[in-house]
Amino acid sequence: MFRKFYPKNYAESTYDINYQKLYQNGYRGIIFDIDNTLVEHGADANKKAIELFEQLKNIGFKACLISNNNEERVTRFNTDIKMPYIYNGKKPSSKNYIKAMEMMETNIDNTVFIGDQLFTDIYGANRIGMMNYAVKPISPKEEIQIVIKRKLEKIVYHFYFKHKKKNIVLIGFMGSGKTSVAKALAQKLDFNFLDTDLLIEEGEKTTINEIFSNKGPDYFRQLETDLLIELNSNIKKTVLSTGGGIILKKKNVKILKQTGKIIYLDASVETIIKRLDGDDTRPLLADENKEAKIQEILNDRISIYKNAADFTIDTNNKTIADIINIIIKQGGVS
Ligand code: S3P
Repeated sequence: MFRKFYPKNYAESTYDINYQKLYQNGYRGIIFDIDNTLVEHGADANKKAIELFEQLKNIGFKACLISNNNEERVTRFNTDIKMPYIYNGKKPSSKNYIKAMEMMETNIDNTVFIGDQLFTDIYGANRIGMMNYAVKPISPKEEIQIVIKRKLEKIVYHFYFKHKKKNIVLIGFMGSGKTSVAKALAQKLDFNFLDTDLLIEEGEKTTINEIFSNKGPDYFRQLETDLLIELNSNIKKTVLSTGGGIILKKKNVKILKQTGKIIYLDASVETIIKRLDGDDTRPLLADENKEAKIQEILNDRISIYKNAADFTIDTNNKTIADIINIIIKQGGVS
């Protein structure tokens, strides 16, 4: 839905971009937005900005400024920079992106746009298929109409970063097939496979059963949260299988939503019983009447699973291959 606003690249600052590498990759022209991309909103060019344009010239780049701001603002900024410029640029309209390329004598394949606003700078570049970088705005102080846009940008960025990480998170009840499906899906997509239970067992050098009986469920749940925080900032292109109770903490669901696309593997009590036949590795199911216990826990959790998920699959009477095909075809995973 938001893809047209997704930048091709993201950098913390205009001054962090590796321009030498861009040149090596065949780019010859760079179009810059000014306010909050090169300097704070409304500010004159500073030493850093002047040096950047010197550096670009030395590398061999042509550059051009496009601002939606007025002539006074743009020419004032350009006093010491002395680059071709366009004011009242009306981004995201394509017209001035094209004009800037004409001014630099570059083309759509060797020009990059750098700007801080998704709905003007980046959307405009995407519309004409121009390579682009979104940069973090230099100053948090903004005009009121921009403050509102920033709130919307935050939503787009949330989905953008998730999409960029490409992780897939499987949630579901014990025995719903998360680990087997995750392993097979990771292989098919050439992704990494990780499993929270296995990582916790490795970290604690003991089994889940032992952790529950020696340290208690609260201790285990804290290990899950600590692990999710760590994984969230470190994994990409990973299929992550999670422990069945991970969704019990709202905080965990919030982290998982940032980590990747959440897929719920739904299974009936009968299916779960069949799949867990002879398995005694689940401390929560060490009950005389397993069926009643499964039903009771599932009743408590089913709406949490469904609400947390981006996509739910009914796994009853389906093979692992069936489930993977559904995830790939209908789950929007690639
Ligand atoms: C649990 C599920 C288990 C494991 C622990 C608690 C649960 O993981 O994390 O025994 O609360 O549902 P699996 O779902 O992989 O069995």
